[in-house]
Amino acid sequence: MIDYINKILEYNLLDCYNRILIVTVLCLIFPSLYYLYIKCKHFTSFSKVTPKRTNIIHENNVNTIIEENSFTKDDENFDISSCGGFIPYLRKLHANQGAHVLSSKLPPNTISIVDPIVIKAILSIGDRPIDLFKFLEPFLGVDNIQILDANRAASFRKLIQPALGHDVIVAKYQSLRNIGVEFIERWEKLIMNDKDSVIKMQEECLELALRIILEAVISIDDPKDLDAKSYRKSYDIALSSLYDKQYGILDTLCEEELQQAIDYLHSLTGKLIDQRRKKLLEINDAEKIKEKDLFDILISENDPITEKPFTDEAIISNLSAFIMAGYHSTGIIIPYTLLALSQNNDVQIKLQEEIDKTLGGRLPTFDDLSKMEYLTQVVKESLRVHPPGSFCARLIKSETTLPTMVESKNITIPANTTILYANPLYNENPDFHPQPEKFDPTRFSSDKIKNIKPNTYCPFGFGARICPGERLAMSDIKMVICLIVQKFNVELAMELKDIIKVERFAIMSKNDILIRLLPRVKNY
Ligand code: HEM
Ligand SMILES: *[C@@H]1O[C@H](CO)[C@@H](O)[C@H](O)[C@H]1NC(C)=O
Ligand SMILES: *[C@@H]1O[C@H](CO)[C@@H](O)[C@H](O)[C@H]1NC(C)=O
Ligand SMILES: *[C@@H]1O[C@H](CO)[C@@H](O)[C@H](O)[C@H]1NC(C)=O
Repeated sequence: MIDYINKILEYNLLDCYNRILIVTVLCLIFPSLYYLYIKCKHFTSFSKVTPKRTNIIHENNVNTIIEENSFTKDDENFDISSCGGFIPYLRKLHANQGAHVLSSKLPPNTISIVDPIVIKAILSIGDRPIDLFKFLEPFLGVDNIQILDANRAASFRKLIQPALGHDVIVAKYQSLRNIGVEFIERWEKLIMNDKDSVIKMQEECLELALRIILEAVISIDDPKDLDAKSYRKSYDIALSSLYDKQYGILDTLCEEELQQAIDYLHSLTGKLIDQRRKKLLEINDAEKIKEKDLFDILISENDPITEKPFTDEAIISNLSAFIMAGYHSTGIIIPYTLLALSQNNDVQIKLQEEIDKTLGGRLPTFDDLSKMEYLTQVVKESLRVHPPGSFCARLIKSETTLPTMVESKNITIPANTTILYANPLYNENPDFHPQPEKFDPTRFSSDKIKNIKPNTYCPFGFGARICPGERLAMSDIKMVICLIVQKFNVELAMELKDIIKVERFAIMSKNDILIRLLPRVKNY
């Protein structure tokens, strides 16, 4: 138990020589960690030679002054590699300086904030630092939702919001659940053949999550039209290669592979667009589709910005952006939740009791999922302890003065500053979450949830650019966890010390998460 706790709080990451290999895949919604890694490296070695005072905080009033190079001796001796990643590096910087607002040893014009009052004050700010996302342009186009400025993002989000809302999820629930059941049956078969089978849950759940997100945003009638395995392979090649490419470390062979992968994904989506256009034309006005999914909206409605229909290019790029955002994030939190259950047997038993009491052995309906409060609490607690998104970023375009947690102290943030919100630093802070090392789903129970201060728990981000897929993600995760623990007891089939988190687009597990599923003897 203690091992488990130490493990999750202290990222046990890899040595610096492997970084280029590790920090590959996927960053869209979350700023590129690799980008920050490179920037910080240059910046910290630079600042060692040329000490200077930062002007980040500079109001005449009672404001906080943050000085660079006012480090303790210890500060000289660590960088991102020696800490094992950007998040542990940030953690150490904040701890060493006792600072809620941190600007030293970060890239230029960047501050990291662990202060819910500052965050509250920037909820309405909807701009992101687009340079962090630039490397994805060849895949996503220059203009996808992630990098739209605040105004354009707001009008686009308004248009597509219904596609990720309650009614569409309910309409699709049956087919989403079928995908979950397919995986359960696959694992059952595996265990039947060999009861000692160990399941690579991260690998499996990534595939599962891709299938689910494709069903949720595109919905293919004929499975032959979209081969999820090839699609997944191409997606992963495209993203990891783009990552490498921006630093010129992609060789010609990979360059070709990258282009092939992008071409494959784009042409496949192009074909699907033609099919869906035809299908929508066939449906006459009288029986207009009631619940438009994202694909339907992009095909049948006007782009709110140009007020003309979306071009194929715009549809492809924006669809790709949504799939990318929902794929690894949803895929990794399911195995992390199983990991937590395997280490907290009381929680697992209590969850199974709720499931048995509610379902008595049948499959969960959509309504069942909202009725099972403990299930929701378990998933929320798992997102606190294992947030898939390591941080969110906002761009402050013009000079802004903001209140802070420290009463009567304001901070002034200069124009063109990137604010980082590192999820783990909030989630593990005992001021915000008492006994943060304890996996305790009941912190989210209806009587205790009010103790959680606003903006100290944001696995889906916050404010104007909060994740638009939160509702969909929550019901997918709850559904899959419910299907699994209804049928099986879960056990970790590897040593806890080998669970090593690595920073990628989402925080992944380097050695996968190996789980043994033990069929339950049911007693309802
Ligand atoms: C466990 C699952 C998920 C997690 C933890 C997660 C987390 C996040 C976070 C932290 C952000 C950044 C928010 C901010 O900057 O304040 C984000 C943005 C986004 N997410 Fe998710 N997400 C998940 C699932 C999904 C799903 C299933 C979809 C799609 C259907 C999705 C679509 C998006 C999009 C499009 C954005 C960008 C929104 C914008 O720029 O306005 N996410 N997500
Ligand atoms: C804003 O900051 C970024 C990141 O440091 C820098 O590249 C860019 O030149 C700055 N832009 C302006 C207008 O100062
Ligand atoms: C994605 O959608 C936005 C919002 O409507 C649109 O302005 C943009 O052109 C689209 N993306 C691309 C690459 O065309
Ligand atoms: C902090 O800023 C607020 C609003 O910007 C202002 O009303 C207040 O007087 C400031 N407080 C201090 C101590 O500067």
